[in-house]
Order: sequence, then C-alpha cells, then structure tokens
Amino acid sequence: MISIASQSASGSKIEHRVVLGAATAVAVVALLAFTSTSARAEGVDAAALWAKNCKLCHGADGKKVNEKMGVKDLTSPEKKATLTRAKAIDSMKVGVKVGDKEVMKPYAEKLSAAEIEALADYTMALK
Ligand code: HEC
Repeated sequence: MISIASQSASGSKIEHRVVLGAATAVAVVALLAFTSTSARAEGVDAAALWAKNCKLCHGADGKKVNEKMGVKDLTSPEKKATLTRAKAIDSMKVGVKVGDKEVMKPYAEKLSAAEIEALADYTMALK
C-alpha cells in the first residue's frame, strides 16, 4: 500500500486506494472468520467424503432407493419435509435404525465432527 500510494501523483487517488485496501482487509478477515467456523473448513472435501462413505447406499446424488436395504430417496419431497441439518448430523453420529435393525452404521468414530457437518450440508444441498 505504502509504495503504491507514494507513487501516486494526486492526493485523492491515495485516499481511494487506502479505502479500497481497508475494505479488502475487512473482506479477508470476514472470509477467514467464516471459513474457520464453518464446516467448509480447509481440508474437508464433502463431495469426496460422500463418494467414499455414502455413495454406495445413497447413490451419487442421494436419490438411490433400495427397498430391501431400507434406503430412501434423500431428495424426495417427503424427506425434504422432515430432514433437518441437525437430524442428518444425528443420523450420521448414531446411525439409523428401522425397528431394531441398524440400516446405516454410525460414523462418529470414522468421521470427524467437521466432516460430519460438511456431509450434513452436502446432504441438505442435494436436489
Ligand atoms: C449401508 C448403507 C448406507 C450407507 C453407507 C449410508 N447410509 Fe445413510 N441411510 C441408509 C438407510 C438404509 C437409511 C434409512 C432410510 C432413510 O431414511 O433414508 C439412511 C438414512 C440417511 C439419512 C436420513 C436420516 C433421517 O433422519 O431421515 C441421511 C441424512 C443419511 N442417511 C446420510 C448418509 C451419509 C451422509 C452417509 C455417508 C457418511 C450415509 N448416509 C451412508 C443407508 C446408508
């Protein structure tokens, strides 16, 4: 900033650049704060996690249905009406049971909290 400003001929130009610099700094700080608190933290690739852990049963797009295994379309209106992000997180943490049959294993041991949150966002975003 200082070197650019000192090269500038007019005072008003310097002012503009300083304001722009401050705005950029605010944006960068805001972005850093967002990424560090959100599940989209660096190193978490929800799409890759989905492909590795979930795709087999739920399909690439979450629409796979398997009557025998009890898998339902995660993007259906019925599911969208009842599934919340919190519920998705819970299902991953403790698994899913139909009656006393465990149809989906818990992922609490296998995935980190950040990974589970990222997968919940991913699940909720499936269309
Ligand atoms: C062994 C097959 C299997 C795998 C692997 C699997 N699921 Fe499931 N999942 C199921 C079945 C069966 C259900 C119950 C039917 C339903 O409600 O959709 C279910 C339900 C869900 C639900 C809905 C829960 C609710 O309360 O409605 C979510 C969300 C979900 N799975 C996400 C995931 C994610 C994310 C992964 C990967 C980390 C995953 N599943 C891996 C079989 C599986």
